[in-house]
Formats: sequence, structure tokens, C-alpha cells
Amino acid sequence: MMIKQSISPNIQKTPPGPRGYPIIGCFPQMASNPLQFLTNAAREYGDVVHLGTIGPQQLYLFAHPDGVKHVFQDNYHNYIKGANFKDKDFTLLVGNGLINSEGEAWRRQRRLMQPAFHHRQQIAAMVTLMTKVIEELIEHWRSMENAQIDVAAEMLELSQKIVIKALLSLDPNSSETAQIIQAWHTVLAFHTERIWAFLKVPLSVPTPKNVRFLQAVQTIDTVVYQIIRERQQSSNHPDDVLSMLMSARDESGEGLSDQLLRDEIVALFVAGFDTSATSLGWVWYLLSQYPDVESKLQEELATVLGGRTPTFEDLPNLKYTKMVIQETMRLYPAVWILSMTNIADDQISGYHIPAGSMIVLSPYVTHHHPAFWENPENFEPERWAPERSASRPRYAYFPFGSGPRQCLGDVFVTTEIQLIVAMISQHLSLKLVPGHPVEVDTRLALRSRHGLLMTLESRKTHEFTLHTK
Ligand code: HEM
Repeated sequence: MMIKQSISPNIQKTPPGPRGYPIIGCFPQMASNPLQFLTNAAREYGDVVHLGTIGPQQLYLFAHPDGVKHVFQDNYHNYIKGANFKDKDFTLLVGNGLINSEGEAWRRQRRLMQPAFHHRQQIAAMVTLMTKVIEELIEHWRSMENAQIDVAAEMLELSQKIVIKALLSLDPNSSETAQIIQAWHTVLAFHTERIWAFLKVPLSVPTPKNVRFLQAVQTIDTVVYQIIRERQQSSNHPDDVLSMLMSARDESGEGLSDQLLRDEIVALFVAGFDTSATSLGWVWYLLSQYPDVESKLQEELATVLGGRTPTFEDLPNLKYTKMVIQETMRLYPAVWILSMTNIADDQISGYHIPAGSMIVLSPYVTHHHPAFWENPENFEPERWAPERSASRPRYAYFPFGSGPRQCLGDVFVTTEIQLIVAMISQHLSLKLVPGHPVEVDTRLALRSRHGLLMTLESRKTHEFTLHTK
């Protein structure tokens, strides 16, 4: 173990790190190839790296699982999302929803929202809803034998339809769903371009991009508020996340305001759409590159399901499917970087971390740490077998973050991805179109920069029955 905490209260040693420029620190290197920059920094300087400054703020990378544990568990009271996250464009989109709040406001919202995502019976109900949406896609794809499709774009649309249905009970083929999906393209394109930009044109300046973004947010608001109003005026309350949020009350008997209901729904779009879609895209890409893994997956699906649509009860038996997903999220964690701010001075591994610093935790860097992952670049679902993973430190893997702010949708999305992979794999094989370039794009979730152009091949081994209607 390389990290030891709080060696002496008087230590003021700064961790080693690359020399940055004055004021902008290592920002240019970070912005141009962050995965390589951060991975190299950890390899070269060790498990606590000083990444220089951005303006007045010191930046540190904690790459070792013990550093991750320190932030999420041992000294979690000292770490908040902080100002790093309070980007103005982002706040306009998500308002004061769960992912953008701190302290008591965050605690109250988390308590109100948790049951919608973590009750076993809620997740079981979501399985039925999810399988219907997935079956529709399979039927559509089966009519397109040998077509070439952008699987990344298709997975985004599928994840959006599932999340929108789970949150708002909107039919995946309704005009409201189409409006949200359409507006989201604009929102995503806008944020992708701006997130790493050092200088940003304020939203108040009516550039074409700003105007398009503001109109897209307006479209989403109109749809979401309309649904909230209809629910308030009707006795029909479908079994979905919005109904649960509308009836949730805190200890004082108070519920969420309309504005906060809207904020939570939009925040769940932000948290859920792109992350699920990119993870799914990488599963299909990796399966197409590793035929042995794909065959093993087929064996499990044939044994456990034999061509059936999976149920909630089948999920624990789809063990290898789950290992494939875990390994995909290790190699390509959708949220590849997290940043926190420490409230008070801290010490780690004998180094002094002054209050108000920005602490960077990178699931990507830690998931590729050679001390914890043998041949870290290899796709090996077998490393998730109990006998191989038992001795691995818990914080060597954190695709969903951890601690109090661990992903609220972790069970939801793991269930969703397991169903999608099990169902689609039984019917179709997806083959990467030869020569299609595959490169990671780090600007938001860890996406494939050029999409994933793949050919749809039907599996002829079984005749399957779909139950869409
Ligand atoms: C593979 C897909 C997903 C990944 C990799 C992922 C990852 C994460 C991570 C790393 C965080 C912590 C962020 C931080 O600490 O700053 C987070 C938070 C969150 N996630 Fe997810 N997420 C995924 C899907 C979803 C889905 C589908 C939903 C809901 C529909 C969701 C809802 C949330 C919420 C509400 C939070 C904020 C929790 C809080 O601040 O208390 N996520 N997610």
C-alpha cells in the first residue's frame, strides 16, 4: 500500500507533479488529451499528483484506491462537489436538482428520491417496462438484416426512451418523447463543445448556438411542466418516478415544489441518458472485438434463457453477462472523471492538501492502475469471477462514484444494461464495420468520437418469440 494518511500534523509537503503554466496550470494538456495526461501523471509522479493551479485553485489527482477511499469514506465530511460543478449553463439546465445541490438541500432531495430507485419492487416493475421498449427495438432491427447502423446513436435513443418511460410513463413513440430526444441532441452538442472551453460566450449573448441551446431547454421545460400540471389535475397517477416524487414528503410533511420536480426530472435526464448509452455502446464494441467472450455469453444466455425474454428473477443467474458489463465499465467508465473540493486542509500520504483545492478522482486512471489490474488494457470479464476479485481493494473500481453521492441510478442502469445485452445478443450479432475508426471522446461521458458503425446480423440458431404487443 502506497498511501498513508495524516503522518504528522506539521507536514506541509506538496505532492510531486508536472510543471504547468502560470494561472492556467496544466489545463491545456488536460484539455487536449485528458486520459493520457492523467494516466501518465499517475505513472510518472505516483498516487498523489499535484496538477498545478487553475486560477487561484490548486489541483490534485488521487489515483490510488486508498486516496479514493479517503475522499468517499474515511474523510468524506471534508469533501463536497463545490464550485467546480456550479457551471452557469449547467445550472440553467438542471436548476437546483439533486445532482446540483449540496448540504441540507441535497440530503432532503436524496431522501425523497431514493425509494424510487432502490426499492426492489420498483426495480422489478421497471424490468417489465424496459423489456417492452427493448423488444420493440429488436423487432425493428430484425427487419433490417445486414444494415449498417450507428450503434452509439441507437443506444442513446434506446436509453432515452427507457428513462423517459420510467420517469414520466411517456410512450416511446409519442411526440413528447420525440421532442425531448430532439431537444437533447442540441443540449448535448452545446455542452460537449463548451465543457472544456477555457473561455465561454455568456448565455446572455444571442449567438446562434446560445439561442438554440436556450430554445432546447425551453422545449424540455414545456413538456415536463405540462406533464406535471396534467398529473396535478387528474386522479390518474401512473406507477412511475414522477408520481413517486409528487407524493414524497419530508419529515415536516413538505413535498417538492413544481420547480424542483422539473429540476429533478431534468437532472435525471442529464445523469441517465448519455452515461447508459455510452456504456452500452462500448459493450457492443468490445463483444465484436472479442469473439471468445461473445461465445461464452451466448452459452450463458442459451442455458439460462433459451431464447426467452429475461425476467427480474433471471437477472442474478446472468452472471457472465454481468461480468461483461462490469469489465466494460472498467475499461470505459462513462464518468471518467470526478472532481471534489476539500472544505478544510487535509493530509494524504504525508502530503498537505490546502483547503479549497480541486481533487480529481478518475475512474479511468484507477481502473487501469497496473498494481490492481493485471494487463489493464485487456478486456477480460473473467477477472470479475469471485476468486479473482475477492482480494482487490473496493475502491479500485468506482464507475458509479461512491460515498453519500453514489449514483442514484446504479441498480436501475445495471438492470437496464443487463436486459439490453441479454435480449439483443440472443437475437442479433453486431459486427463493427471494417475500417470504422474507434477513438474515445472525453468531452462529456466517455463516448466513441465517430459513433460506432456496426452491421446487424440475425442469429439463426433459435426461433424467438417476442411479446411486444
Ligand atoms: C452507466 C450509467 C451510469 C453511470 C456510469 C453513472 C455514474 C454516476 C456517477 C459516477 C455519479 C457520481 C457523480 C459525482 O459524484 O459527481 C452519479 C451520480 C448520479 N447518478 Fe448516475 N450513472 C449512470 C446512470 C444513471 C442513471 C440511469 C440515473 C437515473 C436515471 C442516474 C442518476 C444519478 C443521480 C441522480 C446522481 C446524483 C446523486 C447525488 O448527487 O446524490 N445515473 N452517476
